[in-house]
Amino acid sequence: MNIDKAVNISDLGRLAQRRLPKVIFDFLDGGAEDEITLRANREGFDRYRFRPRLLTANAKRDLSVTLFGETFKVPFMIGPTGLNGIHWRHADIALAKAAADAGAGFTLSTASTSSIEEVGASTSGIKWFQLYPWADRAFCARLIERAKASGYKALLVTVDSVNAGRRERDARNRFAHEVTLTPSVVLDGLMHPDWLFSVWVGGGGMPKMPNVAEFLPPGANAAAMAEFTRSRRNPMLSWDDMAFLKREWGGPMLIKGVLTAEDARLAREAGADGVVVSNHGGRQLDGSLATIEALPEVVEAAGDAVVMIDGGFRRGSDIVKALALGAKGVLLGRATLYGVAAAGQPGAARALSILQAEVDRVLALLGCHSVAELGRHHIAEV
Ligand SMILES: Cc1cc2nc3c(=O)[nH]c(=O)nc-3n(C[C@H](O)[C@H](O)[C@H](O)COP(=O)(O)O)c2cc1C
Repeated sequence: MNIDKAVNISDLGRLAQRRLPKVIFDFLDGGAEDEITLRANREGFDRYRFRPRLLTANAKRDLSVTLFGETFKVPFMIGPTGLNGIHWRHADIALAKAAADAGAGFTLSTASTSSIEEVGASTSGIKWFQLYPWADRAFCARLIERAKASGYKALLVTVDSVNAGRRERDARNRFAHEVTLTPSVVLDGLMHPDWLFSVWVGGGGMPKMPNVAEFLPPGANAAAMAEFTRSRRNPMLSWDDMAFLKREWGGPMLIKGVLTAEDARLAREAGADGVVVSNHGGRQLDGSLATIEALPEVVEAAGDAVVMIDGGFRRGSDIVKALALGAKGVLLGRATLYGVAAAGQPGAARALSILQAEVDRVLALLGCHSVAELGRHHIAEV
């Protein structure tokens, strides 16, 4: 794949689509039900326009942000996505390395295909760990212990998925954290030889989720792990559990999936240091608010808690809009996944460098000297 030809994130998306079989690309790209929220995440950015200021002598711009005492070179980081190894072999490590090289953070999912320890040791870059509170408190406490021992700096607890959403593309393709080998899936695989040989044949079929392996009998296969993730969702979770997780972790903790002022307040009361405004990339509750629409009320309710956001970020201008509306940083989902699925670590690096250049250009045209300077006055709601 010639990723240098990709001038924006959409181009990387097209390259990823070309390299992956449909069943895999649909898993990466798709959303829940009618994909209303998936589209709304993108369309929401159009409701906000810039109010540029002129002649500000801003030849150099500072893109850095400081979160929980750590300084990042750019105001965006790679967010948690599960099963990354189905797109590119050892993709978690490729993404973590690309992030470290770009001075961006990396978040490892509970459902990663490389372990907490492997990714922890793979770079000296700043890493966060995302916890799915599957099963019980002992499960959560054990993963927290491992993430602490491996030097992860912040814990993101994803709470929008304690009940399962429904992705109809996956249902049609019979993809459920494992591939059903129907004749059309086999044919599709054969038509994507680069993916077939490097990921499927080279990796020995469906990648496993090593973080959950110790909760299963020795030698459990990927299907058993997929079943674990389905059967151990815990819809009885409550804010009390969040307070428990904060005590176990001790460090900075963010609740991921918040879309309302009410829950932002409850997150703070439970001891969270921050929230991630997120609708899981439109993969859970279809018809929910676009994240950029929910951002202002969450920022207002969050007080001094750190507000991060994800959902539909494909342009530097999207990122700058969110920062101007009060987010402290942006998490990337599909943007860097497209890159890694198209071309591994260089593809992820390309996605990050495209976004860095775009953020810098927007700041320049907006008359800003730094990300820190951004504020509500840079934005009009239309
Ligand atoms: C393929 C895929 C897998 C994901 N897996 C996880 C996960 O394991 N944990 C999690 O908290 N969020 C997961 N998410 C949601 C992302 O963290 C993030 O909220 C979302 O992708 C942001 O939207 P965007 O992809 O449009 O940027 C996943 C998203 C995608 C696309």
